[in-house]
Amino acid sequence: MDSFELNKIAGAVFFTLLVYLGLQNLGDILFHIEPADTNAYIVEGLEVNAVSALEASAEPEVDILALLQTASVDKGAKVAKKCVSCHAFEKGGANKIGPALWGIVNRDIASVDGFGYSGTLNEMAGDWDYNSLNGFLENPKKYAAGTKMAFAGLRKPQDRAAIIAYLNAQGDTPTDFTTGYTPPVAEPESVPAEEPAAEAQIEETPASQDESQDGPVTGATEDMFSDLVADTPSE
Ligand code: HEC
Repeated sequence: MDSFELNKIAGAVFFTLLVYLGLQNLGDILFHIEPADTNAYIVEGLEVNAVSALEASAEPEVDILALLQTASVDKGAKVAKKCVSCHAFEKGGANKIGPALWGIVNRDIASVDGFGYSGTLNEMAGDWDYNSLNGFLENPKKYAAGTKMAFAGLRKPQDRAAIIAYLNAQGDTPTDFTTGYTPPVAEPESVPAEEPAAEAQIEETPASQDESQDGPVTGATEDMFSDLVADTPSE
């Protein structure tokens, strides 16, 4: 019964995973996003509502604003070590291989004086808000195909939140990301796999201990006692 139960649970978990992956891929197939010249994350109100509904029912995109609520500027300063060969962050810093980044948050894309941007970045509309920075820094070449920023990207959402918090602090008028932020309503957690598995283990344990006991034991107290003793010499 146990293994059957476990199989059912494992089956349910895998099925959920399969559906999730299926939906993700379906989204990719139906809704292949070309590197957009505006913010690629806002797709509301387009004709693709059916697909975005599908995507919404799968794992949502990284909610970078949520991560920014707790992002650490100090950690961002550490992440920024990956950028300093090409970028200056301090006020009045010079352009290097990449443009100086003081005050980059909420600034027009490709607007640092005296820096020769790629055509790609020059043609991109909009500001470097937390969404566009999140997309660009995750995978520059994908987000802005043709960019000359030769950087693989920050795969961890926490690293991106940290660097955005740091970039935001490196400016004259840092944005307060907490104003107007309402946390999403938490969905009830479902953890079906854990508990039955633990039960199954508990059932098995006494059986194997019985076998390890030497003589026949009678009475509850003796039973418990011999359990304790049996543990010690078996080491
Ligand atoms: C190998 C050099 C290099 C590294 C490393 C690098 N960048 Fe860049 N970055 C560039 C270049 C070059 C550009 C200009 C891109 C273009 O014009 O297409 C750029 C552009 C940018 C821009 C857009 C600036 C604007 O004015 O529009 C941002 C933001 C940025 N980088 C942030 C970062 C951050 C944050 C890191 C570290 C996590 C980083 N970069 C690492 C070279 C680099």
